[in-house]
Amino acid sequence: MEKDKAPDRIDRVDARAKVTGTASYAADHKIQNTVYGLLVGSTVAKGRIKSIDTKAAEKASGVLAVLTYFNTPKLPGYTTGKDPSKPPTGGQPLRFFATNEIFYYDQAIALVVADTYERVLHAAKLVKAQYEKATHKTSLEDNLATAKVPTGPRQEDYTRGEADSYKNAPVKIEQEYYHPVEVHNPMELGSIVAFWEGAEKVTVYTKTQGVQATQKSISDAFKLPLGNVTVHARHIGGAFGMGLRTWPYEIAAVMAAKKVGKPLKLVLHREQMFTNVGYRPATKQKIGLGATADGKLIGLTHEATGNTSAYEEFTEATVNISRFMYACPNVTTRYRLVPLNVCTPIWMRGPGEATGAFALESAMDELAHALKLDPVEFRVRNHADSDPEKNLPWSSKYLKECYEMGAERIGWKNRKLQPRTNQDGDWLVGYGMGAGSFGAMRWVASVKGILQPEGKLRLQCSVNDMGPGTATMMTAVAADIMGLPPGRIIIEMGSTGLPPGPMQGGSNVTATVGSAVHDVCFAMKEQIAALASKAGSVFSKANSQQLKAEDLLFSENGLSLKSDTSVRLSYSEFFKQNGLPAVEVTKESKGTEQPYSSYSFSVHFVKLRVHPATGRIKIDHVVSCADAGTIVSPKTSESQMIGGAVGGIGMALMEDMVIDQRFGRPINNNLADYHVPVNADIPTVDVLFVNKKDPIIGPMGSKGLGEIALVGVAPAIANAVFNATGKRLRELPITRDKLL
Ligand code: MOS
Repeated sequence: MEKDKAPDRIDRVDARAKVTGTASYAADHKIQNTVYGLLVGSTVAKGRIKSIDTKAAEKASGVLAVLTYFNTPKLPGYTTGKDPSKPPTGGQPLRFFATNEIFYYDQAIALVVADTYERVLHAAKLVKAQYEKATHKTSLEDNLATAKVPTGPRQEDYTRGEADSYKNAPVKIEQEYYHPVEVHNPMELGSIVAFWEGAEKVTVYTKTQGVQATQKSISDAFKLPLGNVTVHARHIGGAFGMGLRTWPYEIAAVMAAKKVGKPLKLVLHREQMFTNVGYRPATKQKIGLGATADGKLIGLTHEATGNTSAYEEFTEATVNISRFMYACPNVTTRYRLVPLNVCTPIWMRGPGEATGAFALESAMDELAHALKLDPVEFRVRNHADSDPEKNLPWSSKYLKECYEMGAERIGWKNRKLQPRTNQDGDWLVGYGMGAGSFGAMRWVASVKGILQPEGKLRLQCSVNDMGPGTATMMTAVAADIMGLPPGRIIIEMGSTGLPPGPMQGGSNVTATVGSAVHDVCFAMKEQIAALASKAGSVFSKANSQQLKAEDLLFSENGLSLKSDTSVRLSYSEFFKQNGLPAVEVTKESKGTEQPYSSYSFSVHFVKLRVHPATGRIKIDHVVSCADAGTIVSPKTSESQMIGGAVGGIGMALMEDMVIDQRFGRPINNNLADYHVPVNADIPTVDVLFVNKKDPIIGPMGSKGLGEIALVGVAPAIANAVFNATGKRLRELPITRDKLL
């Protein structure tokens, strides 16, 4: 990373609040007389609850209620079967206590409420259930025969040209790839504080990536007018996708708060984070890839089977990346789902695409090797100059630039074409790369800007910030346009009641909210210019023309005439002269239908060493290059990319939720046994941006970044391991036992 700090490299605006502990997360909200809720989970993975003995728990000191299937009336909204925040696919969300059916291990069978946390912890252990057990299915591998075609959009089998034509190619590979369940498990646990005012109004602080979606879920479940449900989620301690829907525990906590008539706090245990709030589904994939002898792709077939739950259908775009990533005349994709007795999966960083890219980018490396071609050269030869799936031009694409910049920075010229021929002392050295992509989306948002007389700009939007730096991005955009120092921009976000914003997901927020901030600031300048043109103002006296925004200089000291900067007014004087308390502008960003295909692209390069005696992998260097359009907040964008590389290293080398198939429950359901990278595992990560404007997506030309930071990292590592050792590992994580 560049060490020098250019003026536009503004610091994370909430950094101080976060590191000093003044940023409040959901469970930090303290309300008088709060009581504590705790979920009790099923000890079987499939079956029915026959009975629950809650007597001992109810008698325990401080216990206020024990909610179970046997004593909890169904919510009014449970008759409709709808839930707006569930993934847009089949099935019905699980409703705790509305059924006695058990779909997965640790599914909540009771919610105990007591006046202190210690008392609820004790009482929860006293709840005993009798089950009618049934045979569970928790292994993807063992149940592939039950795979079915999902019903979601863009999930149907796809063929362009001739189906499975790779089989007839002169040079071809056909391989299977697998990765296990990976869990989000951010530092902040799933948490909610809920309190009712009477029976009709409820306020919650909860861990969500979209306050409005949660508001809608609660309003639907309890049949309340939307305006009677207030949701706050200003700060989020990481989420990676787990907050992209409303989970049953949140609804259950709101139910319990209503029942006891007191503010209630419920925080999931770390163990429950492995069982109740989604994960990246395990996926088995097959790629068939064929090319001409000179390395032009002829056929590509990508098949994937992922798992879903036994009650909902969760789908993701696992195979879709293969439809557009390379110029290939014959492409076939097939996607299947296996229902298992587990909680429904949920999007996890670079959902689907990260999974699919592991297989595709590994296969590209395998075929390059078979062709004796440099893998970068092989990709350049098959570069898609337009979108071959949609038959549309790209809104912008600088993938070739990413290949070049990254290859240069990692020292790709030092890579040996022949694996296991590069040694450094005892260590085997390898280089690998993988590319990634994710749809560049611009959704709908409304942003209100209020310029105050003291020269402060307040920006309001209900979108929240789970860590990528949304507040910083909004500040950077506004500070730049308004000529204000970042400290003069006040961001109000993460609450319903503010102008509506998008979910924080799918890498959409900079394009969506950033565009609205951009438009608010320009409209505000125009509005001020119109006021300044009014007869009698110092500006109109000095300049008889109708003033435009560009005729004025905006700064922290107020505004002045560009042609004569001695003509100036502070904002307070200017507002006073116009009889205004402030200038307010609201703008909406809308996604537009364009005859273009919009994607962000990334290329990740890895240099690593493998010790042949111990199988130890030491990553020396990661270079991540991104084509994400204009980068408006370089510092937080780099952090975002580094975070993606760290996630990719975890995916490649460590992450694996192991299920004990006998009981259908996770074995390593804690952060000691579920391995993620620590600081010592992470090398220097260089982040390079092409930083060229996308002319279509919006006024700033910014595409998304969050997902492409991760998509393509895991195969880059697997490919580097092959280059170092000559061993091709197609099953993640690549642990050292597999290298010996
Ligand atoms: Mo991301 S998986 O869209 O939070």
